[in-house]
Amino acid sequence: MSQPQGWVEAGEIGDIEEEDVIRFDYGERTFAVYRTSDDKYYVTEGLCTHEKVHLSGGLVMGHIIECPKHNGRFDFTTGQVKKIPPCINIQTYPVQIKAGKILVKVD
Ligand code: FES
Repeated sequence: MSQPQGWVEAGEIGDIEEEDVIRFDYGERTFAVYRTSDDKYYVTEGLCTHEKVHLSGGLVMGHIIECPKHNGRFDFTTGQVKKIPPCINIQTYPVQIKAGKILVKVD
């Protein structure tokens, strides 16, 4: 299925458990795709801004992703740092669900 310009398919809705996160790689870039317990989907850049660890290895709690390395936290709906050591927010990306696919606007 071809997507509108700038949108790419990051997987299917069933690929992620509720309140969980998966990694999505696109070209040279890496992202984290989140599903909340109320069945909403969000996407952020994939690496922690502290030491470039994959956030997909972390823990989702509500709207928070906790980095697996030093337990820094971000709100993945806004990208804001919620607990140090990271001090730089993560970037977020627009998401839409279409015919069971998770679409992300990557640029
Ligand atoms: S690498 Fe994420 S908190 Fe340090």
